[in-house]
Amino acid sequence: MARFTLPRDIYHGKGSIDVLKEIEGKKAIIVMGGGSMRRFGFLQKIEDNLKAAGLEVMVFDGVESDPSVETVMKGAEAMRSFEPDWIIGLGGGSPIDAAKAMWIFYEYPDFTFKEAIVPFGLPKLRKKAKFIAIASTSGTATEVTAFSVITDYAAKIKYPLADFNITPDIAIVDPDLAETMPQKLVAHTGMDAMTHAMEAYVSTIADNFTDPLALKAIEMVRDNIKKSYDGDKHARAEMHDAQCLAGMAFSNVSLGIVHSMAHKIGGVFHVPHGCANAIMLPSVIEFNAAVCGERYAKIAKMLNLEGENDKELTKSLVKLIRDLNKELNIPATFKEYGVDEAEFLANLAFMAENAVADACTVTNPRKVVPEEIEKIYKASFYGEEVDF
Ligand SMILES: NC(=O)c1ccc[n+]([C@@H]2O[C@H](COP(=O)([O-])OP(=O)(O)OC[C@H]3O[C@@H](n4cnc5c(N)ncnc54)[C@H](O)[C@@H]3O)[C@@H](O)[C@H]2O)c1
Ligand SMILES: [Fe+2]
Repeated sequence: MARFTLPRDIYHGKGSIDVLKEIEGKKAIIVMGGGSMRRFGFLQKIEDNLKAAGLEVMVFDGVESDPSVETVMKGAEAMRSFEPDWIIGLGGGSPIDAAKAMWIFYEYPDFTFKEAIVPFGLPKLRKKAKFIAIASTSGTATEVTAFSVITDYAAKIKYPLADFNITPDIAIVDPDLAETMPQKLVAHTGMDAMTHAMEAYVSTIADNFTDPLALKAIEMVRDNIKKSYDGDKHARAEMHDAQCLAGMAFSNVSLGIVHSMAHKIGGVFHVPHGCANAIMLPSVIEFNAAVCGERYAKIAKMLNLEGENDKELTKSLVKLIRDLNKELNIPATFKEYGVDEAEFLANLAFMAENAVADACTVTNPRKVVPEEIEKIYKASFYGEEVDF
């Protein structure tokens, strides 16, 4: 038996944040980041809409990029004293993920972070509040996913929390919010979306429900990411939809080792999530191709890439990703990104061991051991081909 779960409602397209005027409830807490949403006037609009609906509003701001366990606990405490019946995550992946995790500890104050990281082990939510996610970046798709990524800074590990209980009730995918993203964020979040779609497509549990979403997302990202990066508004809106489609796929069939490895190198060196994925995706395709070359070839064929057989088509796909990275000014290697070589080597075994234990490793098409992960990390550090 397979399960396919999405938010009850996904509002998309220009002006969709106006649906907040029709929300029924008493109190809403808006969880957000450092201020881009306030600066560009979106917070005001959202507050106005909620007040028009008769809700009392509280703002919890200042959620950092790659949110910490401490921020999550602080937010949960604020929720316990305000007692909202709606939690609204507003922003990129960081504030929305933080809000999802706060929700758990708001409803279950005695639950621990250690218990929360057990995949699909959360208690039933929605006893106190329901959840609205409003996406302002075009990548993580956390507005529709069952995931929340929280960093334990003391342990230097990013943990993906995974459970359908934290799939939002309502997702708002309004392209107006994505228009203000700076170029670098467009590049990183866009390649995060590309990685989601590719990893979902080759996931060991990919199925008839998720394949069409993943393939459509891959095609849309390929066609729009560079134009969006260059400021084309239509392409920016297409990317906002594409990342959401990719999210609908991976939320239900999970991801693979690009994400496992990105979580761990992100935890140690703070490489932005999408950037880490973009650097490693070509190496992981080369590694996985030994067992799912035919799936990569299908993607390549859909994109009209060159090649007479699975091997050649996969090679073209790897080249496409490398070319996209170049066009988006994403470094080709971690060395080029600026990760210190001695520190990288010193942390290699630690990162590899934790990457194997990451929840995303379970659905990677090719089984891995820490030594192989170390080799893939090295290949994407030095820019070498993966041929083992
Ligand atoms: N939950 C999931 O399913 C999932 C999937 C992938 C990644 N993640 C996690 O999400 C986090 C990354 O999220 P992200 O890439 O969306 O970035 P982010 O939320 O960390 O935001 C990055 C920066 O962009 C700014 N910003 C956001 N929207 C903006 C806009 N419209 N205009 C201008 N500036 C804007 C923010 O203020 C912040 O400074 C990581 O922690 C990653 O591990 C979660
Ligand atoms: Fe991601």
